[in-house]
Amino acid sequence: MARLKLGVLISGRGSNLQALIAACAETTYPAEIVLVLANKPDAMGLEHAREAGIATAVVEHGDFPDRESFDKAVHAQLKDADVEWVCLAGYMRLLSSWFVETWNDRIINIHPSLLPAFKGIDAHAQAIAAGVKLSGCTVHIVRTEMDAGPILVQAAVPLLPDDTEDSLAARILTVEHQCYPLAVRLIAEGRVQIDGDTAIVVMPPDIGDQIISPPQS
Ligand code: GRF
Repeated sequence: MARLKLGVLISGRGSNLQALIAACAETTYPAEIVLVLANKPDAMGLEHAREAGIATAVVEHGDFPDRESFDKAVHAQLKDADVEWVCLAGYMRLLSSWFVETWNDRIINIHPSLLPAFKGIDAHAQAIAAGVKLSGCTVHIVRTEMDAGPILVQAAVPLLPDDTEDSLAARILTVEHQCYPLAVRLIAEGRVQIDGDTAIVVMPPDIGDQIISPPQS
């Protein structure tokens, strides 16, 4: 079976990218990364891609007069690489509505909270301030509104009384690294059906006893 061709957009560390690279290294995994694109030349994740022999590109947003012209340059790189789905992995740029509409329902993002709670860049601080006892991560289809769109996979972790933003971020990151490869797998295996603002997901039988939603069907 042909593997789903992914383009991964990053701005920094790239630990979710690494989780996707590791998943794609499995021969039975139904997706492959054909391009890693960063908006900053010093994004650490570019190194992980190069080490894995994956094509990389840098498109610097400062070189463009506005968001849409930047996004058109990113789009051109993705098309040149034959990308079918776009994965945002710590990509710190808001997408233009032109880009979101052009890649309609073929962009996913990972966010470090149980959406729709705690949208935005300071999700960990918001969770601590709210005093919630569980937080987690969400992989969702990208729509024009930030951190909104049909939810594919979520996982919960406890928020402990002495947590700092860093300790909570580290705990959530461990489940992010499980959820992102799972979400890509679900898409590649045709297990996701978008229904307006929600997604219907048929979980494979081997994903059962973890606190990952949706539950095994
Ligand atoms: C992750 O916490 C992700 O949820 C958020 O940005 C962070 C990126 O981390 N969108 P990394 O670059 O994948 O290590």
